[in-house]
Amino acid sequence: MVQGRTASLAQELEERRKAEEVLKELTGRLEELIGERTAELEREIGDRRRSEEAALSSERLFRELFQNIADPVYISDASGRILAANQQAVRELGYPEEELLALMVHDLDVIYHNDERLAGKFREFTENSPLTFESVHRRKDGSFFPVEVNALLIDFNGSPCVMGVARNISERKRGEQERLKLEKQLLHAQKLESLGVLAGGIAHDFNNILTAIVGNADLALMRLAPDSPVRDNLQRIEKSALRAADLAKQMLAYSGKGRFLIERVDLNRLLEEMLNMLELSASKKVLLRLNLTRLLPTVEADASQLRQIAMNLILNASEAIGEKSGEITVSTGSLFCDRAYLNDAWFDKNLPEGLYVFLDIADNGCGMDRDTLSRIYDPFYTTKFTGRGLGMAAVLGIVRGHKGAIKIDSEPGAGTTIRILLPAGALPSEEPAREAEEDRWRGRGKVLLVDDEETVRAIGSEMLRELGFEVLTADDGREALETFRSSSEISFIILDLTMPHLDGEQTFVELRKLDPGVRVIMSSGYNLQEVNHRFAGKGLAGFIQKPYNLSALRAVVKQSLARVGATSRQDEKEESP
Ligand SMILES: Nc1ncnc2c1ncn2[C@@H]1O[C@H](COP(=O)(O)OP(=O)(O)OP(=O)(O)O)[C@@H](O)[C@H]1O
Ligand SMILES: [Mg+2]
Repeated sequence: MVQGRTASLAQELEERRKAEEVLKELTGRLEELIGERTAELEREIGDRRRSEEAALSSERLFRELFQNIADPVYISDASGRILAANQQAVRELGYPEEELLALMVHDLDVIYHNDERLAGKFREFTENSPLTFESVHRRKDGSFFPVEVNALLIDFNGSPCVMGVARNISERKRGEQERLKLEKQLLHAQKLESLGVLAGGIAHDFNNILTAIVGNADLALMRLAPDSPVRDNLQRIEKSALRAADLAKQMLAYSGKGRFLIERVDLNRLLEEMLNMLELSASKKVLLRLNLTRLLPTVEADASQLRQIAMNLILNASEAIGEKSGEITVSTGSLFCDRAYLNDAWFDKNLPEGLYVFLDIADNGCGMDRDTLSRIYDPFYTTKFTGRGLGMAAVLGIVRGHKGAIKIDSEPGAGTTIRILLPAGALPSEEPAREAEEDRWRGRGKVLLVDDEETVRAIGSEMLRELGFEVLTADDGREALETFRSSSEISFIILDLTMPHLDGEQTFVELRKLDPGVRVIMSSGYNLQEVNHRFAGKGLAGFIQKPYNLSALRAVVKQSLARVGATSRQDEKEESP
């Protein structure tokens, strides 16, 4: 019995020992498992911390990039509500950040300024492909600037949004415009050059022929009985010839080769003197006002070319008003033009900053659209049925020749203001107003008329005799010198510029050698810019543009005879201390 109990005890002990062993083993395994799991968890925690840190740092990076990028950046939702904007956007637009974030894209964008347009733009977006387009943004102060937008569809806080970088491209646009303007100016310069050659060629022969036509018609009219039926025909011949001469004159002006006699011109006086003529040229229903600034600096200019500018501009203004009643205001003044102001005007890029005299012709006529404005200086460009398209081309040529500039301000339906800028000279001296031209003025004495064209010599002589002069003629420079040497008391010489053997300029030089005080009136159908320069300050007594009629010849001769006296008195004044 005892033995039996002992055996069962031993078995029990054995079983317990075994059970303990199993338990021990299980505990060991459990500890092992716990250890493994703990290590795993630690790894996971570490990973998660690292990824959180990475997310944080990438968000920080994004925020820094977003805020510090040099261009304005916006994030907006599909309705156009601005959800985020960077510091540069705040700076560029002038809104405080809170205000900016309360706005919609169409409050800032001038082109995508309503829901419909914005929605249309949104539809263009596809995932992962950025969209680049140009637009115009408005600042808080109301000013505008052009932008180039680079936009991308993004996920922002779980919803599809657009992030746009809106770069201010004002500089680039200015550069592009500048380049276009330069290209256009270059094209014009090329056109000028080729037309210049053409105009020079035409004008020379053309004006010689016209001198004979105009002169003969003029004299015939004078000698005709007042009631002759031929009078009407002659007047029409003269009128047509003068229109042809006007055409040649406009072409010459455009080519820059019509600038002959440079003198100090008081623009106010010039306009006042031509007021009657301007009024007659404008339509009867147009009120012409002069609004002249007194004490205007003079300009170094060819007075007849300035008249041509005024005439062309007034005619255009009057034609723009048409048959309605309207107003043309002619104003003068002076202003300091800085680089920016000059760059904005036609023509020469290198005009110096400084004081300029301006002539404004403002009308309340039909105005111009962009297309007309861009082609206004093109020779033969016209929108008028009977227009020749030479008026503005001639104005441009003259202004260029005088180192001036032109500015045009025009709106369809609202009228046009054209501003001519010319470099300012000295203030005008207080000269007494010139007496009214006397139609019956006659001279006396001997005149030498030099021209290689027989017709010009014939009609010129007749007109000079009509003015009371005794006329000698020569058909080239050599003969002119001989005649001058052998005849005494020649009052003045009318010298053609273009002649065979010895041309007008060479003859002029030789004549001055023979007599430094000789009065020479140069006559030509055209001239070259370089020749003008060579004549400037060389004591030419006058210039007469072919073709000329009796009254033009009378005016030039009278003025030249007076001018020589005035110049020498002026010289004396300047020399005395
Ligand atoms: N003040 C103005 N108002 C409106 N349009 C103008 C004005 N001045 C010029 N233009 C436009 O510019 C064009 C060219 O003018 P331009 O003076 O060179 O030629 P034109 O007047 O047509 O002919 P013309 O050779 O007889 O002067 C005109 O046809 C007209 O369309
Ligand atoms: Mg015109």
